[in-house]
Amino acid sequence: MPMTNRFDAIVIGAGAAGMMTAAVAGQLGRSVALVDHAEKLAEKIRISGGGRCNFTNVNAGPANFLSANPHFCRSALARYTAADFIALVRRHGIAFHEKHRGQLFCDHSAEDIIRMLVRECEMGGVQWFRPCAVSAVTHEAGEFVLATDAGSLRAPKLVIATGGLSIPKIGATDFGYRIARQFGHKIIETRPGLVPLTFNGEQWAPFATLAGASLEVEIETGVGEGRKSARGHFLEDLLFTHRGLSGPAVLQISSYWAGGTAITLDLAAGRDLRAELLAAKAGSRQQLNTVVESLLPARLASTWLALQPAWTAAATRRIAEASDKLLGELAASLTAWSLVPTGTEGYRKAEVTLGGVDTRELNQTSMESLKQPGLHFVGEVMDVTGWLGGYNFQWAWASGHACGSSL
Ligand code: FDA
Repeated sequence: MPMTNRFDAIVIGAGAAGMMTAAVAGQLGRSVALVDHAEKLAEKIRISGGGRCNFTNVNAGPANFLSANPHFCRSALARYTAADFIALVRRHGIAFHEKHRGQLFCDHSAEDIIRMLVRECEMGGVQWFRPCAVSAVTHEAGEFVLATDAGSLRAPKLVIATGGLSIPKIGATDFGYRIARQFGHKIIETRPGLVPLTFNGEQWAPFATLAGASLEVEIETGVGEGRKSARGHFLEDLLFTHRGLSGPAVLQISSYWAGGTAITLDLAAGRDLRAELLAAKAGSRQQLNTVVESLLPARLASTWLALQPAWTAAATRRIAEASDKLLGELAASLTAWSLVPTGTEGYRKAEVTLGGVDTRELNQTSMESLKQPGLHFVGEVMDVTGWLGGYNFQWAWASGHACGSSL
């Protein structure tokens, strides 16, 4: 077939959302060009979920997403659900399992998901342009005209699927935001999400020895400007690192964290540690440190007792000698540990980008711009950010499906 440079639709970005959009539109009979500048296809899918791609979450619903316009995601999520994506995965014979709280992972490799999407695109006759950089986008006489490494490409519909800013070394760019601005769209301020939190050296010194320790915690934080109704609260695993805190608990809360504010952790999640210490005082002949080590991971217990001279002094004496006040303060410090991170590990380590194209200027059924007919946005480039646990891919599939069906 001769190469043409005119299509019904051009999709820029062959990641999760872009491939889904192109495959759906192609299978509906549209001629679709899929353009990506990266050498390697869909690198973010490849590295996701530790190489096994947590491709959806069976519990995915609007409550699992952050956005300045929280209702926007409802329609697309309802019309293309986790069950729909699971059915697609099954049709391709991909083996998968549930790991934790509805999170579905490939048994073998994330490559299975990439191959599946490529096959779906092929079934739709999608024409690939990659690696292929796009240097300019204009709109002339009802058509988008792209200046690319492969010459000029034209289509009445253009889909921006270039994702967010996380992990620049595998091809993330601000391209989508630039195109959005060019066509008059507002961008909700972007910042790293699902990212480890850091602390200054002096503040963190007492905890640095805990690097590598992990335990289940309850974690919460207040809210920043513009996210008035959102308060993050999770029960998840915490991981201590040399520079700060990570693990699912902290990644989840990082998306709700506003710079300069505190996060609060309960290191004895769901238990009444004060009552446990007082019960031990009444009935045990053990030393305080032995009791605390029986209630918490041993390294955490010894680090904690070293934080205050009074606790250090009491640690090697029998718990019966400790005052109720001391035990109460010790318990409170562990169950309401409040601390103010100095920052995050940034886009280098962030799994997602919060903020993005303001969805109040998009049609929730087709993802089409309300400012520039024919222009669409799908996936992470929009101001819709999921929790950790397969939600971000579900948004890529759902928004891609909604858009692809409308082209
Ligand atoms: P995505 O980033 O997938 O694709 C964008 C595409 O656009 C890329 O192919 C890129 O090369 C291309 N592009 C960018 N700029 C361009 C330009 N200027 N010109 C041409 N092409 C351009 N989510 C989840 O649900 N489960 C999980 O297990 C994980 N795990 C995970 C691990 C890690 C380490 C990261 C960084 C992220 C995750 N995520 C995740 C998040 C998930 O990967 C992410 O939300 C989706 O990939 C977003 O899909 P998009 O298609 O919107 O962007």
